[in-house]
Amino acid sequence: MRRLPYLKLFILLFLCITVIYIYTTNNRYVKQVNRGYTSDSRQEKPSMDKIVISFVVCDSRFNESLNVIKSVLLFTKTPVYFVIFTDNKLIAQFNETLNEWKTVMKSQLDFELQKINFPGAYEEDWINLFSKCAAQRLFIPKLLPHIDSMIYVDTDTLFLGPVDELWDAFRKFNDSQISAMTLEDDNPNVSWYPRFAKHPFYGKYGLNSGVMLMNLTRMREFGWVDYVTPIMLKWKLYIPWGDQDIINIIFHYHEKAVYVLSCRYNYRSDQCMYGDACADATEHGIFVLHGSRKAFHNHKQPAFEAVYRAIDEYEIGRNSKNILTNMEKYLMEGPQSHCGNLKDAFLKVPLQILKKIENET
Ligand SMILES: *[C@@H]1O[C@H](CO)[C@@H](O)[C@H](O)[C@H]1NC(C)=O
Ligand SMILES: *[C@@H]1O[C@H](CO)[C@@H](O)[C@H](O)[C@H]1NC(C)=O
Ligand SMILES: *[C@@H]1O[C@H](CO)[C@@H](O)[C@H](O)[C@H]1NC(C)=O
Ligand SMILES: *[C@@H]1O[C@H](CO)[C@@H](O)[C@H](O)[C@H]1NC(C)=O
Ligand SMILES: *[C@@H]1O[C@H](CO)[C@@H](O)[C@H](O)[C@H]1NC(C)=O
Repeated sequence: MRRLPYLKLFILLFLCITVIYIYTTNNRYVKQVNRGYTSDSRQEKPSMDKIVISFVVCDSRFNESLNVIKSVLLFTKTPVYFVIFTDNKLIAQFNETLNEWKTVMKSQLDFELQKINFPGAYEEDWINLFSKCAAQRLFIPKLLPHIDSMIYVDTDTLFLGPVDELWDAFRKFNDSQISAMTLEDDNPNVSWYPRFAKHPFYGKYGLNSGVMLMNLTRMREFGWVDYVTPIMLKWKLYIPWGDQDIINIIFHYHEKAVYVLSCRYNYRSDQCMYGDACADATEHGIFVLHGSRKAFHNHKQPAFEAVYRAIDEYEIGRNSKNILTNMEKYLMEGPQSHCGNLKDAFLKVPLQILKKIENET
């Protein structure tokens, strides 16, 4: 009779060990499954930790668009990933040039090339809207499921400061904001949209889409791409600025989805040709220069042309010291102009950044 407690104890111990054994092996199994699951989903989930810049270029703007990349590499120290949408003719050219630059810049530069890709049904309409293939950007949320966010720029833009600073604006978005842009203008006397638009547009003055922060994850959740074709079909005869007008129509009905950037992040000749219309740039310097309406090339805006020329002449990998000297020189040499009178605004940010980079190296 005295053996029973021992037997009970033995059975209890056995049970305990069995339970512990089952628990630990099960747990290991669960962990393995979990690990498999997370690593799979990580591949599908868009990457959020890298700075992505994207543009669309067809036909003739190859050199100009390379200068976007140069300007980024000049003033930014952190790695940047470019996604370039282009036609079959230019893909090989980009591949060759950018692979060369990648060798020089090492981990700071990486890129992917995408072919122009419009939905089959209205391909002709899309290609003929505004400039050839510019409307591609409207479809980007669907075309790049592996990317969380990016800064979209027109090919006629130049960064004058480190991209990180603009990228930080993503963190300032509240819960309803999916995209950030500057206003087209905020002067009713010269503003295009309130005077001429025959379609709805954002707010009082409309948006300029030359620099556009796109949280693609949020744009996908919003159903962005489902909006664009019906709007294009309805308004195609009334939208001279093509994709920009479609963006304005969508955000007319969704004002809360837009984070408005300071005019210094998309500075056009409109901001200086009638006098100083962007106080923030005068005070803190121009951050992204946008040569819209061919301001970099048409000999009407010497200040824009001066900055473009200095960056165009720069060769990747060379010392960036001359850039500043040249920029200043070309700005001084140019004929007098309203925009040229504000030359300090053009030089302010490059001066700060290049001095800082020089001191560090
Ligand atoms: C583009 O740049 C290359 C090399 O700097 C130059 O040879 C070529 O003429 C340029 N093309 C245009 C259209 O400006
Ligand atoms: C780009 O060049 C690399 C190596 O030079 C090559 O492996 C790759 O297939 C090229 N890609 C395209 C799209 O031409
Ligand atoms: C974009 O939005 C998603 C969903 O709200 C968020 O998880 C992600 O962090 C955002 N990306 C950036 C760069 O802020
Ligand atoms: C617009 O024009 C009116 C009349 O010419 C002028 O009084 C006003 O100051 C101008 N507004 C701006 C913002 O330039
Ligand atoms: C986000 O900011 C916009 C613009 O200031 C505002 O209209 C909107 O109500 C805000 N959304 C949230 C969820 O706070």
